[in-house]
This record gives sequence, C-alpha cells and structure tokens, in this order.
Amino acid sequence: MSLTQHLSTPISSSSSAFVAHSNFISRTKNVSLPAKRFSICKCVAAASQEAQTAYKTTVSRNANMAKLQAGYLFPEISRRRAAHLLKYPDAQVISLGIGDTTEPIPEVITSAMEKRSRALSTLEGYSGYGAEQGEKALRAAIASTFYRNLGIEEDDIFVSDGAKCDLSRLQVVFGADVTIAVQDPSYPVYVDSGVIMGQTGLFQKNDQKFVGIEYMKCTPENGFFPDLSSVSRTDIIFFCSPNNPTGAAATREQLTQLVNFAKDNGSIIVYDSAYAMYASEGLPHSIFEIPGAKEVAIETSSFSKYAGFTGVRLGWTAVPKQLLFSDGFPVAKDFNRIVCTCFNGASNIAQAGGLACLSPEGLKAMHEVIDFYKGNTNIIVETFNSLGFNVYGGENAPYVWVHFPDRSSWDVFSEILEKTHVVTTPGSGFGPAGEGFIRVSAFGHRSNVLEACKRFKQLYK
Ligand SMILES: Cc1ncc(COP(=O)(O)O)c(C=O)c1O
Repeated sequence: MSLTQHLSTPISSSSSAFVAHSNFISRTKNVSLPAKRFSICKCVAAASQEAQTAYKTTVSRNANMAKLQAGYLFPEISRRRAAHLLKYPDAQVISLGIGDTTEPIPEVITSAMEKRSRALSTLEGYSGYGAEQGEKALRAAIASTFYRNLGIEEDDIFVSDGAKCDLSRLQVVFGADVTIAVQDPSYPVYVDSGVIMGQTGLFQKNDQKFVGIEYMKCTPENGFFPDLSSVSRTDIIFFCSPNNPTGAAATREQLTQLVNFAKDNGSIIVYDSAYAMYASEGLPHSIFEIPGAKEVAIETSSFSKYAGFTGVRLGWTAVPKQLLFSDGFPVAKDFNRIVCTCFNGASNIAQAGGLACLSPEGLKAMHEVIDFYKGNTNIIVETFNSLGFNVYGGENAPYVWVHFPDRSSWDVFSEILEKTHVVTTPGSGFGPAGEGFIRVSAFGHRSNVLEACKRFKQLYK
C-alpha cells in the first residue's frame, strides 16, 4: 500500500490520519501500537485542528495545495519514527531513511566560514545584502570547477540556498501552463512543486499518478533509463542523475538520447546533478558534457551531499544564455528576475564555505567525505546481495535500491522498522514504479551502518 493510498483511507473520525495509520500498522506482521500512543504523534490531517477552533477566515484554500495527497514523504517517515520511539523508548533506532548527511564538515571548510563570520564583527569585514546571484568569486569557481571547457561561464551560474529551493524557483519561472515529465520513481519535489504550481490535474488513486504528469518509468527492466520512444512530449523534463532514489547513473549515450529527445520536442530539461561527484570516472558529471545541451537544459546542483552542507545551505543553478523560450526570450533573464524577487542571495558565511570547498584542499576533503559514504554503500550492497536480494544503485550514488518483489514498500518499511529499529524509505513514496522497493541511504556513521547491516542479516537470513 502506498503512502497516498494509506492516507486516503476513508475516515469519519476527527483524528483521521491516526485512524488511517493504525489501519495500516495492523496489517503489518507483529505490530500493534496501542491507540493511545498515536494521539501524541501529530499527523497530516487538519481535521483535528478544525475541531479546536470554530473561527474560519473567508480565504479559500489554494486548490492546488488541496491536490497534494499526503504530507511530504520525509516528514511522514519522521512521524512514523517518532511513533516507533514512543513504542520502544529504549530502542537504538538507526536512521538510513532521509538522505541527510552525518559526517562532520571538513575543517578547511568550517575554518573559512569561521573567518568570514568573525569578519562580520569588524567594520572592514562587515557585509550586508550581497548579489542575489551570488558572489563573483564563487560563481567563477563553480564554473571553472564543474563546467571547465563546457562553455558554462561565471554569469550563467546562480548561487543559491540549495537545489530544492532552486527547483521551486524554476517552477515559478515556468508557471502553471507548462506540462512536466518526471522519472518514476523520482525525488518527490519535482511532482509536488508541479502540483503546487497548478501544472497538474488531480491525483488518481487507481494508478497513483497525477493527471497531466508524464511519468517516465525507470525500472531494472530498462536499466533505470526511460524508454523515450514511449514518452509523450512535455514542456519540461525533470531528470536526476545519479538518481535519487534508484542510485542509477545515466551514461553518455543515454544523456545524448535525452538531449536529442528534448531538442526534437522543443522541451527544457531540468537536470538535477546533486550527486554528480558520486559518479564514477567515465560517466558524465554534467548534462553540459552532451553536445547541444546548452540549448535545452538547466542544471541544478548542491554542496549538501558533497560537503555536509544540508544544514549550512548552499547550491547553484546553471542557466546557459543559449537557452531560449519559444519567443526567443532567454530563460536565464526570467530566472534572474525570479531570483531577485523571491530570494535575497545565499548567506555570505555559507558562500565563504563554498569557496573553500572548491580550493584544492577543499576538493580533496570533499572527495574523502564522498569516498567514506561510498564505503558505507558497499557495506549495504554486500549485505543485501549476501541475503539474496536484487540490489541496485550504490555504485554511483549514496543510495541502495533493494527489491522486495510482490511486497508493499510501506509493509517492508514497517517490517524493517519494527524488527530491526532501522529507518529506511519506502520506494512507493517516490512514485508508483517504486512500489516493491526500499531505499537504504548510505548517509550514516560507519558503526551505525555496520550495526544496521548486522540487524538486516538477522532479519532476512
Ligand atoms: C535529487 C535531489 N535534489 C535536490 C536535493 C536537495 O538538495 P539541497 O539540500 O541542496 O536543497 C536533494 C536532497 O536530498 C536530492 O536528493
């Protein structure tokens, strides 16, 4: 049963989500959480708030918000984790669920942020608002580090507070009237931001899809690359490689197919390269390595998973000058307008950290962090392989995608949580083609990853 199915279970009581939740749990082997404990877990529904206040404003709810079927996947997982902790207060819960980094930020990077932060306390070193597009030195360093010889220049780079925020700003640029395609499964933000913008129809329970979104199925059968001959034309194509959640990385040939597909259809690719540094040598690390991509693609990326900046917040988006709307207007100019209206620039301290990330020492330190997580990935992959599962991903991304054929992802998620106290992520939360899979994140301390794998072996031996 998927997240959306489970949360759309018909209910009549005011504590709707709790009822749905306990319905779901009761179907999972050996799990019976006492009802009273659920009252502490604040779940999705607004129904309980309705009961608390009689006063209503006269403002109608944004109908697009009402289309969203359930809470965002990761808050839902956190809620279930909290409920689990209430049930087992002494359990040593290990989280390999939400893709949050755990290793400390390398010193060479934090010391640069410390220096910048201290300078803010001096007359000479103080700075207030900076350029919305980011500091020149950082834009130049991003262009030369990630796009050397690819024709992407300093002024094509927009520094941001993270890739997720930029994805939403891009959606504001595109507006409500575009059609979108997403990989299925995919990082939920592409679908949810499209729904919020009004680019879709309603959610259909039968196929677990929103009307109006083109879901490009990515499964083991097609090597996690969509069969483009069966994909309908859309205005925008969201594509993430290396992929969250499947861990698959597209080859040069596959990305060439994608760029040609976009060009033939006059579409724009929004290429999410948040995990590019995890990709092995020989694989493309940017969409702009593909000839012609500058006329059809935008690339968004992030320091989050390279330098542990999930809390610091720093990313960027590259919008080439060559990318034009149908009337010939440059997409970059509209993106610039939105950035200047909706955003006031990334934190100057974070930008100092970003610049340090791109120094020779910073790059070496980031590679060490990435290699550490890749070591975790190997341990997880070997564990599930040794247990006879079909395991995907891992090699070029910090995510391992494990197949549990003919089982509901949420059932597997609950089984693992209940019996091993390990939090994973149910594949169906990333799209209907994720049903039957779970995603295991390699972000975790080594001792926790080893302990989690020991528990997986006990459960599935
Ligand atoms: C594919 C993908 N894109 C973007 C993001 C968000 O990155 P940021 O922390 O820069 O907002 C994530 C975070 O998990 C992700 O997995």
